Amino acid sequence: MPHLPITLAKDIYFVGVFDPDIRTFDIVMRTANGSSYNAYLIKTDEGVIIVDTVKKEFQDDFFLHVEALCSYDAIKYVIIHHIEPDHSGALPELIRRAPHAKVLISPQATMMLKALTNTEEINFETIWTNKQLSLGGKTITFLTTPYLHWPETMSSYVHEDKLLFSGDVFGAHYYDKRLFNDKVGDFSYAFQYYYDHIMRPFQSYVRSALKLYERFDIALIAPLHGPILRDNPQQYIDSYQQWSHKTDNANTGKKVLSIFYLTSYKNTQEMAQMIFEGSESVEGVVANMYDLASIEEQNMMAILEESDGFLIGTPTINADAPKPVWDLLSCLMFLDKQGKCAGAFGSYGWSGEAVDHILARLKALKLRVPPLTPLKIKLIPSEDELQMCFDFGVEFAEILQGKMVEIDLV
Ligand code: FEO
Repeated sequence: MPHLPITLAKDIYFVGVFDPDIRTFDIVMRTANGSSYNAYLIKTDEGVIIVDTVKKEFQDDFFLHVEALCSYDAIKYVIIHHIEPDHSGALPELIRRAPHAKVLISPQATMMLKALTNTEEINFETIWTNKQLSLGGKTITFLTTPYLHWPETMSSYVHEDKLLFSGDVFGAHYYDKRLFNDKVGDFSYAFQYYYDHIMRPFQSYVRSALKLYERFDIALIAPLHGPILRDNPQQYIDSYQQWSHKTDNANTGKKVLSIFYLTSYKNTQEMAQMIFEGSESVEGVVANMYDLASIEEQNMMAILEESDGFLIGTPTINADAPKPVWDLLSCLMFLDKQGKCAGAFGSYGWSGEAVDHILARLKALKLRVPPLTPLKIKLIPSEDELQMCFDFGVEFAEILQGKMVEIDLV
């Protein structure tokens, strides 16, 4: 049974839906407490504004909530902060039912809107930072908050109610029909988990969005998933400030190079040691070594996050890099990789493909991979080869320090 619309502020209602049974979201996220697809409705004397919609399979409940508050003819605008299907699934049907509605989206969402509705005949207008909508005593300022977590994502602020519609920002996959943060159970783990999996790869964009939000006095945050934040919303902004804080290596004046390695017969480890010594000899670079065989994933992520550059040393086993190396690479999905330098090296017995596989993957992930000669050594490094490793460390560290080289970005 659908619940009745819930009031957030004067003439502003929750018309979203609950999904208590979902246990995996977007393939990579576990949702032990289910989730919600939050949508909102603003009623004014001059017409109705719908703020986002819901996943298509839940649209019947969404429409019941809308119908409890207004007729479709009264809908003047539909604001879509984020066009991912969990928020735009009901949009095609909503447009069909609400003939006078104009869809407001960011310019980047235009092509997707057409693909979603499979028509060019859509009544829409694009919005961006500082554009305003005034209707029946509600004034909404739009804010471009891209890559949080898609290119087109937006937020908006309702001045009369000091309400921030934040999109996925400040969201949590946490179903609790009591809905408001002062009523629901402890969802702090879900709030941080959501940040770690959705926002963390875009930390610089989080910082930009927080700067935009700073201009406003925010009494209430209405995100697209999970609890509505009306009790001390500042604490959630503070958490985002803290989590997205840029590691300030400028304090030490040094660039951080992390050298991860995996070793079977200590040959790759020996290479790592010489690379470490070479890079440490460069002023302004601090290097550290980590054995991938015994490092926890959370620690690995923290290290990668604070590194300006990293190197991966891997043996080749059955023509590939062993699993711990790929585990490290899969962590990068959740991190902001912008501007980081990376490279690979390793000792091998027969064919030595692992280093090439890793280099290709690093390039595909858009890391800055300097065009150094691939450092692959057959079995036990000789004295000359150890010197090559030292020199490789020096050169990589110098590049970290700003030495100019041409880097092909795939
Ligand atoms: Fe909640 Fe990015 O969709």
